[in-house]
Amino acid sequence: MMGAGVLADPFPLSPEYVPESLVGRDRELGYMRGIFLPPALDGRGSPLALVIGHRGSGKTALLKLFKRLVEAEGAERGRPIKCAYVSCWGAGGRLFRILERALRALGAAGNLRGRSSAELFGFIEGISSRGIFPILLLDDAEAILWAEGADPIYALSRAAEGAGVRGLGLVLSFGGWDRLAGIDGSALSALRRGAIELRGYSRAELREILAQRASMALREGAIEGEALDLIADASSGWGDAGFAIRSLGIAAEIAEREGAASVAARHAERAVEEASSSPDPQLLGELSEHERLFLAAIGMALGRRGSGEVPMGEAESEYRVLCERFGIAPRRHTQLWKYARRLSIVGLLSLRPSGAGFKGRTTLIGLRGLRWDKVINYPRCDGDRRGT
Ligand SMILES: Nc1ncnc2c1ncn2[C@@H]1O[C@H](COP(=O)(O)OP(=O)(O)O)[C@@H](O)[C@H]1O
Ligand SMILES: [Mg+2]
Repeated sequence: MMGAGVLADPFPLSPEYVPESLVGRDRELGYMRGIFLPPALDGRGSPLALVIGHRGSGKTALLKLFKRLVEAEGAERGRPIKCAYVSCWGAGGRLFRILERALRALGAAGNLRGRSSAELFGFIEGISSRGIFPILLLDDAEAILWAEGADPIYALSRAAEGAGVRGLGLVLSFGGWDRLAGIDGSALSALRRGAIELRGYSRAELREILAQRASMALREGAIEGEALDLIADASSGWGDAGFAIRSLGIAAEIAEREGAASVAARHAERAVEEASSSPDPQLLGELSEHERLFLAAIGMALGRRGSGEVPMGEAESEYRVLCERFGIAPRRHTQLWKYARRLSIVGLLSLRPSGAGFKGRTTLIGLRGLRWDKVINYPRCDGDRRGT
């Protein structure tokens, strides 16, 4: 029997969707409100917060929902607050590009090219002197360390501290404490003081998040309780809500393709298998052409070797072969190192120094949980030729 389809509206399952409320994050939102609202309403002071949490712990959702709530409250009280959300990976981790995007989000017009980062800070202060309290929400700030080291982080915290009389707010998110390696001194202690740690979601919280999304995205009664249980269970290792929602979306697609009347446990099972063995398309979409090529090369090298890890050198030669096949000029060794580090930071690769048994010392590269044949499908280049 063909069903009417299980999907009513796929949007709540997409990465762009920001929920109206966050399961289990009331305390964190309340805390942020407490830090930022008084100075923003007063128009003086420079609150700083650090949001720390693994992938899928809700950092991005928290920042975006905070923006919505705090701007609404500022408007209600006649004290305009304006938040600029910037994905640091999206800006290549470059401070200048991050500030440029922040200024645009704050409504600054005009050409910013040829300015220095310090001048861009000045423009942001200019916004606060017009009676609008600006808050920068910089998501995945480890991208800054990856691209430019700790100096921009110092510059950011100094700018926040010294931001004139009226002040400016700053929120930085990181994927874990280890991602702050390289930051020290007073900047680190300031960040530590304002830290909000997002622990991974429990099985029960994941179940609730899934049920909430299912009720928005699927037709009524179009998912069985067992399917939700199964996905919540499978996601509870890391407490990763992103993985849970992605699995739910895949399960719905599978059920839809089968013409089933509802999403059942067997669909959920296949979806979890697919979601854990293949890279998150959203994550892939944020990589540059050469990073995707390098990832595909690693997959090929792993497949050829038939093992879980390959030495850096082998991945590199595979990468050159791929570049030649696609008629693309290969990047240098040092650049490939940078890609390897980035791919490891975002959770796609594992990197490990080789022990004895290899000629010389090398780094062994593996895929974190992914199957090699799920990463070799490089690519639709879609004109994306960013230099990073
Ligand atoms: N507490 C929550 N309640 C409802 N949905 C959530 C919650 N936390 C995260 N999500 C959803 O889970 C997915 C992953 O969250 P995200 O904020 O992207 O995590 P992170 O940025 O830490 O990797 C997003 O779709 C997000 O909307
Ligand atoms: Mg995020």
